[in-house]
Amino acid sequence: MSLPVVLSIAGSDGSAGAGIQADLKTFSALGVYGLTVITAITIQNTQGVKEVFPMPLKMIEKQLDILFTDFKIDIVKIGMLAASDIADFVGCYLSKKQVPFILDTIFKASDGTSLFDGSFDNLISNAFMVTPNLDEASTIAGIEIKNVNDMMEGAKRIKEKGAKYVLIKGGHLRSEEAVDILFDGENFEVFTSSKVKTANTHGTGCTLSSAIAANIAKRMPVVVAVRKAKEFLTESLLRGKNYKLGKGRGPLIHF
Ligand SMILES: Nc1ncnc2c1ncn2[C@@H]1O[C@H](COP(=O)(O)OP(=O)(O)OP(=O)(O)O)[C@@H](O)[C@H]1O
Ligand SMILES: [Mg+2]
Repeated sequence: MSLPVVLSIAGSDGSAGAGIQADLKTFSALGVYGLTVITAITIQNTQGVKEVFPMPLKMIEKQLDILFTDFKIDIVKIGMLAASDIADFVGCYLSKKQVPFILDTIFKASDGTSLFDGSFDNLISNAFMVTPNLDEASTIAGIEIKNVNDMMEGAKRIKEKGAKYVLIKGGHLRSEEAVDILFDGENFEVFTSSKVKTANTHGTGCTLSSAIAANIAKRMPVVVAVRKAKEFLTESLLRGKNYKLGKGRGPLIHF
């Protein structure tokens, strides 16, 4: 017997709302086996990120080597990379392994703390999918993105950088609905859900990209994988919406 295997390369969030911890909860809830490579330790709780300690490259390389020599990894999800040299290293490493990866292009924590100040262009050129939020898509595409039309234009521009699929997330749209847009170079697919009214939204981005990776590892077609991932995300927001865990932006409840 075997299970699909998904590797998350990301930062540790000790408050377990986002990062590696959210990724593993997502993988487990969706029935795939999750592996982790830690790029950085963040000092954070639900109220914000206080400090970030990136791992030395050698430590990242050793974590990758020991997993790739042992497991057949179906897909990789990349979260926080913390530094340009880590992004370059991970990009090179994965292109040698020829494993598909989903890149969550994290520049900032939700409290505004900078988590990466380099360029994602090298990684985007080889990505199976990139999942920027509105701000990240604006930076990467070089245009202001404020509404669904802008999202479509942004997706076209990011697609030109090489990713097979571009998913722009609209959780921060000024609207009653959370609208995400998927572009494969030819067609747009629009995913819409009602916004859950809650302060507990810590880790929505990590959860969505991990859920997509898990669903693709389970061999779902891409559009189905994204639709089901968004459903899982909305359910996790609904399960967590009334809890008071921590004093700030609380976590989703994945199970
Ligand atoms: N209040 C909400 N209700 C329902 N869905 C939401 C809500 N907020 C965000 N989403 C959805 O969550 C997913 C993540 O989108 P978002 O734009 O918040 O990403 P993000 O900014 O990268 O998240 P994070 O702050 O965790 O990094 C998307 O599918 C988006 O539509
Ligand atoms: Mg994000």
